[in-house]
Amino acid sequence: MNEHATSTQKPTPEAPLWLLAELTYRCPLQCSYCSNPLDFAATTNNELTTEEWVDVLRQARAMGAVQLGFSGGEPLVRRDLETLVGEARQLGFYSNLITSGLGLDEARIDTLHAAGLDHIQISLQASDPDVAEAVAGSRKAYDKKLAMARAVKAAGYPMVLNVVLHRHNIDQLDAIIALCAELDADAVELANCQLYGWAHLNRNGLLPSREQLETAEATTVRWRERLSREGRDMQLLFVVPDYYADRPKACMGGWGSIFMSVAPDGAVLPCHSARMLPMSFPNARDDSLEWIWYDSDAFNRYRGEDWMPSPCRDCDERHQDFGGCRCQAYLLTGDPTATDPVCEFSPHHHLIESARREASEDKRKAAQLTPRNVHESRVFCRA
Ligand code: SF4
Ligand code: FES
Repeated sequence: MNEHATSTQKPTPEAPLWLLAELTYRCPLQCSYCSNPLDFAATTNNELTTEEWVDVLRQARAMGAVQLGFSGGEPLVRRDLETLVGEARQLGFYSNLITSGLGLDEARIDTLHAAGLDHIQISLQASDPDVAEAVAGSRKAYDKKLAMARAVKAAGYPMVLNVVLHRHNIDQLDAIIALCAELDADAVELANCQLYGWAHLNRNGLLPSREQLETAEATTVRWRERLSREGRDMQLLFVVPDYYADRPKACMGGWGSIFMSVAPDGAVLPCHSARMLPMSFPNARDDSLEWIWYDSDAFNRYRGEDWMPSPCRDCDERHQDFGGCRCQAYLLTGDPTATDPVCEFSPHHHLIESARREASEDKRKAAQLTPRNVHESRVFCRA
């Protein structure tokens, strides 16, 4: 145990329910909407070993965590994924693989199944291979993803397809949903792009217009009605982009409330974007998860309500949204304690309005966005 300062005035939190194991930031794709940190390359040669990950899983389960997500980057890049899945099964986690589908094949689906993986979520970029290539930087990825979606379904897994929506694919939504239906997905997350990491860098080139968004919502409603008429059981979840909402999301269910993320190098974070905040985070190599969760300054800093500025501190909605997202507040205002500018009561809400205006004037094509890549990332590592 270490000697970091501890907080004494915060409510005692419940145990974490969710552990996100970001096994690696390495990835064969270069999606310009990626939420990984800009300086992800700093962790490439410093990933936790298999034994260190096993220790993280054991500690989190002993604390009470029940849901486990394996993500990245592309978690299939780790050749020890099956070992970690097997450990998760033994410990009693419900485990979910969040993948691009690249690095998967029928044999690997079988070994992951045998190891005890419960669930697979595959991301799709578009219904059209040209847009998919422009956004993810790979021509082969489109066919591969479709083949793997079919293979996952054939292996008997419930299949969630995740489609990140942005200006360059949102007009294809009708065809995207038709493709998901053809692939026989059990659920489809139509997740409007969250503007963190590389996506924030490309914000002006990704943000859709209000008109595009309204058309996409109407398309989703039409598809829900059609699926219901046809007796199909494919759920469509439409996630509205923050920049078009008037209240912030209850990010992570509240800072340090239910969610704990461990980054490839062992940094332990209250959300996957937090490492760009102007504060330091503890590391699983140095401290126990229990100490980090209950006692570290990082996990206690935005718990409860003492830290809240006006207008949140007097607002009746603070118990529902916890003042919004700390990362978004920092990215937009430079102050991680600010009320999330998404909120219409925030004194910084004009920043959201001007971001929408700026984006509408930006005519970049998908191919002109900055792709997430190691070389650019090294520049951010030095910055
Ligand atoms: Fe939520 Fe704060 Fe806005 Fe109230 S003022 S709705 S607590 S973000
Ligand atoms: Fe970090 Fe919302 S993404 S607090």
